Amino acid sequence: MNYSSRPTWAEINLLALRHNLQQALKSCSVTQRVLAVVKADAYGHGATPVTQALQSFGICDFAVATLEEALELRSAGITDNLLVLGSCFPGQEGAFLQYDVMPTLLDVDTALRLNAEAVSQKRQLKVHLKVDSGMGRVGFLPEQLREFLSQLSQLDGLTIEGFMSHLACADELNSTVTVDQQGQFRMMLQMVREAGIEPREIHLNNSAGLSGWECPECTMSRPGIMLYGGLPGFDFSSKLDLQPVMHLRSCIAQLRQLPAGSGISYGHCYHAHDDMKVAVLPIGYADGYNRLLSNCGQGILHGEKVPVIGRVCMDWIMLDVSHVSDVAVGDCVTLLGSADGLSITGDELAEQLDTISYEVFCRIGSRVPRRYLPES
Ligand SMILES: Cc1ncc(COP(=O)(O)O)c(C=O)c1O
Repeated sequence: MNYSSRPTWAEINLLALRHNLQQALKSCSVTQRVLAVVKADAYGHGATPVTQALQSFGICDFAVATLEEALELRSAGITDNLLVLGSCFPGQEGAFLQYDVMPTLLDVDTALRLNAEAVSQKRQLKVHLKVDSGMGRVGFLPEQLREFLSQLSQLDGLTIEGFMSHLACADELNSTVTVDQQGQFRMMLQMVREAGIEPREIHLNNSAGLSGWECPECTMSRPGIMLYGGLPGFDFSSKLDLQPVMHLRSCIAQLRQLPAGSGISYGHCYHAHDDMKVAVLPIGYADGYNRLLSNCGQGILHGEKVPVIGRVCMDWIMLDVSHVSDVAVGDCVTLLGSADGLSITGDELAEQLDTISYEVFCRIGSRVPRRYLPES
């Protein structure tokens, strides 16, 4: 049966994605490629369409977080290089080989499991070796790397295709942590080279690293958030010229005239100070519009910013549109992104929510359809 969908959607502007990619490429040295991070459904923007768009802009290396995310791209027909940044969990080894997906090698046990599977299939599996240069999360510490390198000659089924690490504080441009991490990274790369291994790919920088820190030995950078128009840190607002890719929009379902004193939404934490015109939008926290935006979110309507009033509900929010003329049911309100020359950026929402734009984008729920522009 054909029917119209609820008028709430996230518009994904692929021209903005291309613009942001160009900014990332500008920050790369001439010899570096972009390994585009499309994990977590491309930070909520839609992994398959975003990957396909990036392919059409010339990118052929992609990183995801899980095997499942990689297989989603493979089943969409994406045959480019895929790196899983997370672990290969027990029982997943065969799938990495079968679908030609590269795991990130984080420890010796995983290396042994992957090697056993590759050897039993008489195949070679390309892996990226991850070292912990100071992130304090996953990867080989120097002593563990030494031990691993001493065993590597017996792991015939593995090819060390890449050498990588991850930066903890690259968003702070004066961070001595990053300087130390770069030093550790180079030192561990040297250990690998002294063991007779020359990885084809070397990568360290995320968006913040790419935009503020050089890595001359790197063959790739791994930008994520900057592709989607989010700043990798507050220090970058004047450094980066990025465009928002996601625009969250919803159309007015009801317009209500409420008398002064009316309580609005759960808990009546807002009361109409006057007779008010209230617009009700069919979107709520189940769609990823955070409940902490109760009484403090904003929407863009007819070239004006209008406040969210009362609690954000699971499926509805209310806006005070008393001062906006010519408002009608069906009018479109932008809650994230830009409209009419105004914008509400992911970074602004993140600041209000005491989080980062990454989370704002990732939380836009699966109930919100993504519409890709320009339509192909
Ligand atoms: C290992 C790794 N590399 C690269 C990225 C991309 O980082 P960003 O989105 O800050 O560019 C991430 C994101 O969390 C990551 O975990």
